[in-house]
Amino acid sequence: MKADILRALLQAHASGDEAGFHKAALQLASAESTAGHVRVAEELRAIIAKMPPPGPKRQGAVVDIAQPRGDLAEILAGAYRDERLGDVVLPDETRRDLERLLRENRSTGRLEKWGVGPRRRVLFHGPPGCGKTLTAASIAGELGLPLMTIRVDALFSRFLGATATHLRSIFAEMPRRPGVYLFDEFDAVAKARGDNQDVGEMGRIVTAFLQLIDADVSTSLLIAATNHSQLLDRAVFRRFDLIVPFQPPSPFQVERLLELRLGAFDLPKEELARLASETTGMSYADLARACDDAIREMALDARTHVTIEDLVGALEGVRRRDQHLR
Ligand SMILES: Nc1ncnc2c1ncn2[C@@H]1O[C@H](COP(=O)(O)OP(=O)(O)O)[C@@H](O)[C@H]1O
Ligand SMILES: [Mg+2]
Repeated sequence: MKADILRALLQAHASGDEAGFHKAALQLASAESTAGHVRVAEELRAIIAKMPPPGPKRQGAVVDIAQPRGDLAEILAGAYRDERLGDVVLPDETRRDLERLLRENRSTGRLEKWGVGPRRRVLFHGPPGCGKTLTAASIAGELGLPLMTIRVDALFSRFLGATATHLRSIFAEMPRRPGVYLFDEFDAVAKARGDNQDVGEMGRIVTAFLQLIDADVSTSLLIAATNHSQLLDRAVFRRFDLIVPFQPPSPFQVERLLELRLGAFDLPKEELARLASETTGMSYADLARACDDAIREMALDARTHVTIEDLVGALEGVRRRDQHLR
């Protein structure tokens, strides 16, 4: 009985559910009093009386996201990154845009003298496996900032009181802890508005989220990434200073990726070009996996060079794997 109450108490605390915490605390006092521990019960009630009143109007406690607790730990992860923009194969135009973004964020002082800040709100969109997460990591790596990843889908699948609290915690952290804040699976925002039963409350939280994006004046970068940009409306797009499309690789880009991954093995260029022309439909992630598989094959054979045959076999393996996933 008391274990149940303690569990509820901790659970409520971990998820920032103040009303639940208050209720469980009162239950604890009452359990003590039932057990004949009248003095303990009295003490507990005195403490509870000093607690701030629970209720939706009060601003939720701000959680330190460097040490996320409870639910927030599943939603947010942060780390410094080694990736660089040179690790990403990108169309020239995209690379220019991103290099410019980095320059602006490295030259904040120069910009602010003229009353403009660097652009900091960026939207990445495109199919999976085409480098959105990798690019966000490399921006963090280039700027020497931690990448803080927030899974928006997880954030919005929690019960709503916690969603609002966590959002406030994250946005409170952005000025305190400069970083690249990656809101991954950002389209969950649009889905949340669409299919939740409690549309009114969810709609309000999404609106509050967009307002937090507008109101943020930190030096942190905010990158939203989505595989489903068609779900986002103009009101959402409008929030971003820079919109970056990601696409599956062209044959030319496949070659660049193979060079990046297998350059050390001096594979014949014409063969690579021929293979590259036969990989339509594969994402960068598929190709990267095939390169690793080819290296595995080489290593198991105790060879020191990857051959074209290793790569052909590995690409075939990845294609088979993808068929199972379809
Ligand atoms: N444009 C790219 N250039 C080089 N490698 C890439 C690229 N896109 C994807 N990859 C490889 O695939 C992996 C998964 O890609 P990721 O960035 O997670 O894709 P997304 O976030 O778009 O789904 C990366 O870690 C990297 O190894
Ligand atoms: Mg991703």
